[in-house]
Amino acid sequence: MASLGFEVLGVDTDATKVAMLMAGQVPIYEPGLPELLRAELKAGRLRFSTSYEKAAAFGDVHFICTGTPQLPGGEGADLSQVRACVTALAPLARESSLLVGKSTVPVGTARALSRDLAAAGYQVEIAWNPEFLREGTAVTDTLAPDRIVAGVTSQRAEDLLRRVYGPLLGGGSGGTRFFATTLETAELAKVAANAFLATKISFINAMAEVCEASGANVRGLAAILGADPRIGDSFLRAGLGFGGGCLPKDIRAFMATSAELGVDSAAGLLREVEKINLRRRSRTADLALELAGGDLTGVNVCVLGAAFKPGSDDVRESPALDVAQILHGLGAQVTVYDPVAMVNAARTCPELAYAETLPMAATNASVVLVVTEWAEFAALSPADLSGIVKHKNIIDARNVLNPELWRLADWNYRALGVGAEANAQV
Ligand code: UDX
Repeated sequence: MASLGFEVLGVDTDATKVAMLMAGQVPIYEPGLPELLRAELKAGRLRFSTSYEKAAAFGDVHFICTGTPQLPGGEGADLSQVRACVTALAPLARESSLLVGKSTVPVGTARALSRDLAAAGYQVEIAWNPEFLREGTAVTDTLAPDRIVAGVTSQRAEDLLRRVYGPLLGGGSGGTRFFATTLETAELAKVAANAFLATKISFINAMAEVCEASGANVRGLAAILGADPRIGDSFLRAGLGFGGGCLPKDIRAFMATSAELGVDSAAGLLREVEKINLRRRSRTADLALELAGGDLTGVNVCVLGAAFKPGSDDVRESPALDVAQILHGLGAQVTVYDPVAMVNAARTCPELAYAETLPMAATNASVVLVVTEWAEFAALSPADLSGIVKHKNIIDARNVLNPELWRLADWNYRALGVGAEANAQV
């Protein structure tokens, strides 16, 4: 927002994070963000504070970007941070200002918050403007979005949001579409998008299971399916499946909401999507067990990847780390290497060993697994590992390596979604 020319005040209740941001340090790994932060601090358009009073006095538009994690012990979303923010801000905010929710929330949340504010006598209006950015490409996703969704209850709110996003909508490039809609449709637009993406990934992973049972190859299948423009080739990468701070918890929250609304079809579909997703992890562990001769006790296993996807240091619900934990639970001596997510991984899974470099992680390994598709793993060649491992066994759980190269170098190469026949072909 600052880089678009607005005066911006960022508020967080965590004073440590506010201090870091004021010093030009981003508390997470996100390519391009530190440069942007420092440029806008220098330009004087961006400041940070822990004070709601300052925010209320300052803002014409208040974006609410708090987290909505999964409820402890339940599937629904924990809305306490969103509620705390609205409750703190509403009594202080100018009546003419607009509270704009960006957090992912169950359908019906914004309407309920509006009702609560009105009942308490506060005039400030609420709109919902969901966020579709992906980790790792957050800056470009934000500055060149496919669409802006504005859930509003008045023309005034729509006009204000059109002004805010004007710099992105103008220019006639036709890239970014603006959808003005109801609060409910806007909330659902985000959850439904994530549910669809999760379903697409689980669809190709269900096909991977069929490939494994029938001798077909899911990489070839995905390329052929994706050539149909009605299907499209994005989000058809078969492998270890989805994780992260959004897709898993959002589909669970959606299941909970659908069940509450009495709509079993959506909940049933997503339940299956999640089951398929989790089965990929146990399948990967089974492959490791098989390559180790049926017993992983004391076997050195090198796990390449900890982040839930490349370009991120996020290990929340990471399939990579989950597989490492399963193998550890089966008695393996697991050593993990990830180019950026090691600190977060070690904090989450202190029981695993971590190596500073890829060669250190692979030294003496009996099985190597590629579980996050970082470019440096995809670029690995057998010569990088052949001299240092104990046994030449590799599992390509993200389908990024060239099978021929590895087989020609006498490696046992196994991939997810490849049947025994296709696996044996060089
Ligand atoms: C997602 C949504 O894409 C984004 O619009 C929303 O705002 C937040 O949630 P993100 O969590 O950053 O973004 O990750 P995404 O790129 O969607 O990937 C999610 C997971 O799916 C990753 O674990 C990734 O490895 C996996 N994935 C993705 C696949 O397994 N196959 C694919 O083809 C694509």
